[in-house]
Amino acid sequence: MKKTKAEFNAIFKEFNRCKKRYRLAKGSAGSGKSVNIAQDYILKLGDMKYKGANILVVRKIEGSNKDSTYAELTGAIFRIYGELAYLYWDMKSNPLEIINRVTGNQIIFRGVQDARQREKVKSITVKQGKLTWIWIEEATELFESDVDILDDRLRGDLSGVNPDLYYQITFSFNPVSATHWIKAKYFDIEHPDVFTHQSTYLDNRFIDEAYHRRMLMRKERDPDGYRVYGLGDWGETGGLILTNYKVEDFDISYGRFNNMVNAQDFGFNHANALGEIGFKDGCMYVCRELYVFEKDTGEIIELANRKGFRKNIPMHCDSAEPDRIKMWQSAGYRRARGVKKEPGSVKAQIDYLKQIPTIYIHESCVNTYKEIRQWKWKKDEKTNLYLDEPIEFMDDAMAMLRYSIEDIRRNSKAKVRSKAKLGFN
Ligand SMILES: Nc1ncnc2c1ncn2[C@@H]1O[C@H](COP(=O)(O)OP(=O)(O)O)[C@@H](O)[C@H]1O
Ligand SMILES: [Mg+2]
Repeated sequence: MKKTKAEFNAIFKEFNRCKKRYRLAKGSAGSGKSVNIAQDYILKLGDMKYKGANILVVRKIEGSNKDSTYAELTGAIFRIYGELAYLYWDMKSNPLEIINRVTGNQIIFRGVQDARQREKVKSITVKQGKLTWIWIEEATELFESDVDILDDRLRGDLSGVNPDLYYQITFSFNPVSATHWIKAKYFDIEHPDVFTHQSTYLDNRFIDEAYHRRMLMRKERDPDGYRVYGLGDWGETGGLILTNYKVEDFDISYGRFNNMVNAQDFGFNHANALGEIGFKDGCMYVCRELYVFEKDTGEIIELANRKGFRKNIPMHCDSAEPDRIKMWQSAGYRRARGVKKEPGSVKAQIDYLKQIPTIYIHESCVNTYKEIRQWKWKKDEKTNLYLDEPIEFMDDAMAMLRYSIEDIRRNSKAKVRSKAKLGFN
């Protein structure tokens, strides 16, 4: 077959040839990572040399594959195969799946958002050959334990299938934070199985002028952001704890969420922070906030009533003050409960918050926004490294956020445990 022109950026030449088990494409936004990886895989899957190879494409949220990885891969097929695309490829959209009609090689799409999706990954089977390659797009969204599950899928002898096959996991991502586990695990060490790659939008010859101008604007207005999204360097966001948030105007009605809770960190000299939080498709929505200083519990309850906080949903509170919890219960917030504190629970709650794809903050919740954009890790003055502990300053709404996810966090842990007991692991 005569392939049409798939053009490549020179910077990815070695990356595309690399056969090491782990290859990581770190880079600025628009550096050409996704297009490159999609084209690379389409060429390989359509090649008889790699007959028996199959790819699992993973994003944290399964549903986000459709408009990203699936769109990139089908786009690559149309660029490379032109009019012959459908002759050579079977592209199914429900569920997402792509198969090369000649080689039989297959592309499967999955997420690792919750225990159910992770179990689904463990039971993937391919029509022929072996699962050989995994592409993790926006890999910084994943937990290290998610990648461990994926890594486990690539094993067994391949030589009997096809001696040209090899196992490989491909990561693509923007280097959002220098404290990310991906940096520690793959970039801060030298290992014969690891190939790391760096690219910026300046390496992408297909980028247009307007994009360059936008990047220059960002450089002026948001130098830290430019380092990550413009230069592809590890984010020195100054030790910020949460960067996965967006401030927006959105519908806060009860019905649109899978689940809703109130959460509260008590305070008097510090702020008393109360929030109403919705959960939907793995994301979190801060819908309402009440943030006041030097008010007693009676006054705060009255303000909360006036602001329309819901009484029939659970309210996760600071457990240090059981008397206040009782007052809230008597005032009609019957499901007010203290959040159990254990060693390490702050860190575990933060880890949970960090892996939420997006924490949406309603634009009316100005104090939550004010806190989240300056909530930082402590720094060791001697070594200049960030510690695993948040700075205890302006963190009352952040405590409220930590409490709000407690049910979900504990349930997801419990589910994994009970599945393990049943022998699903
Ligand atoms: N090999 C390529 N051929 C044609 N266009 C490309 C190529 N690589 C990148 N581009 C263009 O550059 C844009 C950004 O590339 P993309 O792969 O999405 O960047 P990244 O994933 O690094 O953010 C794409 O939308 C596409 O228009
Ligand atoms: Mg991309």
